Amino acid sequence: MNDSPGEWPELVEETRRIWNKNAEAWDSRMGERGNDFHRELILPAFDRLLSVGSDDEMLDVGCGNGVVSRYLAKKGARVTGIDASVDLIDYARTYRDNISYEVLDATDEETLLALGKGRFAAAISSNVLMDMPSISPLLRALAKLLRPNSPFVFSLMHPCFQNPGATRMVEQDERDGRFGLRHATKISHYIEPLHYKGSLVTNSPAASNYFHRPLHVLFAEAFAAGFVIDGLEEPTFAQPTPGARDMSWSQFGQIPPLLVVRLRLLAGA
Ligand SMILES: C[S@@+](CC[C@H](N)C(=O)[O-])C[C@H]1O[C@@H](n2cnc3c(N)ncnc32)[C@H](O)[C@@H]1O
Repeated sequence: MNDSPGEWPELVEETRRIWNKNAEAWDSRMGERGNDFHRELILPAFDRLLSVGSDDEMLDVGCGNGVVSRYLAKKGARVTGIDASVDLIDYARTYRDNISYEVLDATDEETLLALGKGRFAAAISSNVLMDMPSISPLLRALAKLLRPNSPFVFSLMHPCFQNPGATRMVEQDERDGRFGLRHATKISHYIEPLHYKGSLVTNSPAASNYFHRPLHVLFAEAFAAGFVIDGLEEPTFAQPTPGARDMSWSQFGQIPPLLVVRLRLLAGA
């Protein structure tokens, strides 16, 4: 780890290369409309935290193959999707929708600012921040790219429950004379930021880089850039997905796999 907690700028290039290697596997798994995480957790939470006016200009940071960009565009927004992976942007463009896609490294503050100060009515990011080696340049840039009072709404793997020290367990117990299965999470690492390798989707050729930031580190970067939190959700699956494995997140109805946050610039920041 380098001197700044929660920042690994030396891993930006490696992370981009890994995403290019995994682009085909990601696109074939997510397809046009995404997976159950998108459909049941992320998009409904974005709907609640974000109002999309027709013709609003929105920025999708780390758009991948464009699942969320397409969703917002269908609601009438004018969307710019940016991603560091040229291969994922190529996949996004194959869906032939009315979205402007750019290959852009969201850890590069100057390049982000070239998108246009005061241009966007909202920015969103779906499950990207824990994949980014460095988030402070993005937050500083967003403070300038957004119009006054405009939100940045993002989801990420919940730092408390989906991190390298989280062990998922299933235990059997008996309550009121009935045997039942309890899905639980045991946490052995949380407080220190950590870079670790993890799997992405089945058949992805390369292990992904993940960057664990505990809440105080994650939000310190946002507060330093002038943002405050004015909306927060911890969505869970309402019921197990039919045919779900024991360890599927959809079985863990009491443990939120994701955190969804709305940030807004403090007036005068
Ligand atoms: C888990 S995927 C999420 C994709 C999309 N937002 C979605 O919800 O389907 C994470 C994305 O972050 C992108 N990413 C990682 N580091 C990035 C960076 N420095 N700049 C821009 N995008 C980055 C990856 O290329 C990948 O598309």
